[in-house]
Amino acid sequence: MRFHLSLLLALGVSHLVSAAFYTPGSHIRQKIQINQASSQVKTEDEKVPEKYGPYFFDQPIDHFSLNTSTFKHRYWANTDHYKTGGPVILYNAGETPADGRSFYVINSTMAELAKQLEGIIIVMEHRFYGSSMPAPDFSAKSLQTLNTEQALEDIASFITDLKLPNLNVELPPAPETKYIVYGGSYSGNLAAWMRLKYPHLVFAAVPSSAPVQMSYNYYQYFDPIRKYGPKHCIQAIRSVVLFVDHILFSPFDHHKVNLKRKFGAEDLQHDDDFAELLSYPLGLWQEMTPASNPFEEEFCSIFEGLSNVHEYVNAYGNFTKNIIKKACDEDETVNECMDTHDPRSKMYQDVTSESRAWLWQVCTEYAYWQTGSPIWHSTIVSRKLNTAWFERQCPLMFGEHEVPKRPIWREINREYEGWYTSLDRVFWIDGEWDPWRTLSVQSDDAPDRSEWKEDARYVVLPEAVHHWDFFVSDTVSDFIKNTQDQVLETLKQWINETNTSPAMKYQSNI
Ligand SMILES: *[C@@H]1O[C@H](CO)[C@@H](O)[C@H](O)[C@H]1NC(C)=O
Ligand SMILES: *[C@@H]1O[C@H](CO)[C@@H](O)[C@H](O)[C@H]1NC(C)=O
Ligand SMILES: *[C@@H]1O[C@H](CO)[C@@H](O)[C@H](O)[C@H]1NC(C)=O
Ligand SMILES: *[C@@H]1O[C@H](CO)[C@@H](O)[C@H](O)[C@H]1NC(C)=O
Repeated sequence: MRFHLSLLLALGVSHLVSAAFYTPGSHIRQKIQINQASSQVKTEDEKVPEKYGPYFFDQPIDHFSLNTSTFKHRYWANTDHYKTGGPVILYNAGETPADGRSFYVINSTMAELAKQLEGIIIVMEHRFYGSSMPAPDFSAKSLQTLNTEQALEDIASFITDLKLPNLNVELPPAPETKYIVYGGSYSGNLAAWMRLKYPHLVFAAVPSSAPVQMSYNYYQYFDPIRKYGPKHCIQAIRSVVLFVDHILFSPFDHHKVNLKRKFGAEDLQHDDDFAELLSYPLGLWQEMTPASNPFEEEFCSIFEGLSNVHEYVNAYGNFTKNIIKKACDEDETVNECMDTHDPRSKMYQDVTSESRAWLWQVCTEYAYWQTGSPIWHSTIVSRKLNTAWFERQCPLMFGEHEVPKRPIWREINREYEGWYTSLDRVFWIDGEWDPWRTLSVQSDDAPDRSEWKEDARYVVLPEAVHHWDFFVSDTVSDFIKNTQDQVLETLKQWINETNTSPAMKYQSNI
């Protein structure tokens, strides 16, 4: 369980852990990644030994249609430690290609659980990510079967019909074999929702940093950064944003152009695109790991030794100029590079772009738009960045009649119970500093569940960000290590209880 950081870095973990989830400035981050990928020799992803996969499961394209066509659903499985009666730890990789996470079957918190419990660890891909493609591209027509219901049914049908090629004994069906769904972030939502919707198939769940409560105008994303970020840095950002908004909300166009020039973006036409550009460094907060802190090292460090707003603006401007250089091509203007208003823009035309899958999910279902705060609430993001900036892109990307006017986030909350969900045999883990904790069951705003009678566990990892329980290096805190041990002990206990007395499983056991 405790393997070395150098190995983790070699495997690229620092980039994988929070890779795809929509973070502030992800639009710009993606451009930087594309530019860097084309200018560098791409290193092969670390491959796991062949005996672990990948394997392919014949998955119905549409679970709710009479058409029985299937697609090849990719997964990896480690059965090395399986003994009859052992559980299956099932991890769905969520909104990212799973090959980057295939090594979880060998070296991860979950692999360690499987070993200790004499069970199996499986990493499965999510439909429309990596090679698990039910359709040839990401056009609106193809994406019709990308939704929560289909994704959950994928996991259910996988559990029901699984035949592991690398296991030479018969794996008894659920519930005899106990399936424990583990997940982080959106994939943590899936873990909780599987336990909710398929309790006969899913014995227990471990949702980590799961933002189960959907939000449309999610300005609170930035609250933990304001609250826990380095004080001087937050004060600098806040004064820059105040300065910027003073001008952006004024009627004087030449002042706006002068302002944008300080950030290398004088030709950027729309103020909300400019606001989004300025939110980019705040996305670095979520990239923090137990071993690295890019928010402080790459960004906050620029304000060191400075003390007034003009210096802060110049430093922020400098930083932003560099970001533009990395994100945009030399032969395009900043407006051509960053404009989200033009329907003819390149970003809206390419139906083969993988990034469209998650955009589809937030446009149709989840929203989670990370905006500037309303005026009664302090902000570190320009208030020009509003829900319209996000929502406007949905019809431009997919077609006006292909997406709902608004994401159906309220229906998702109703259907999956949001942070009101009360489930037995679920071990909830969150990070104190995680921006996504605000939408989790352990949010400061969530209902107080201290009196609720459910057999669940709740842990908030102090000073931790996004699903840090996934890290197994020596750099993780003792608290995280203890939590990993507690997960194991709790699962053992739940398994033991059901094995010794089936009636006991409904009783609280805290
Ligand atoms: C997994 O980690 C252990 C150290 O705990 C190391 O010896 C082993 O080589 C690693 N396995 C792989 C496949 O990287
Ligand atoms: C069933 O679905 C597949 C894939 O979407 C499609 O190619 C095929 O034409 C469909 N069959 C019928 C009978 O509609
Ligand atoms: C801006 O960046 C350049 C180098 O990239 C540096 O020389 C200069 O001091 C920076 N200015 C401010 C105000 O930070
Ligand atoms: C399982 O539970 C029984 C009784 O509830 C207890 O005696 C036993 O020690 C437990 N075993 C483990 C491995 O926890």
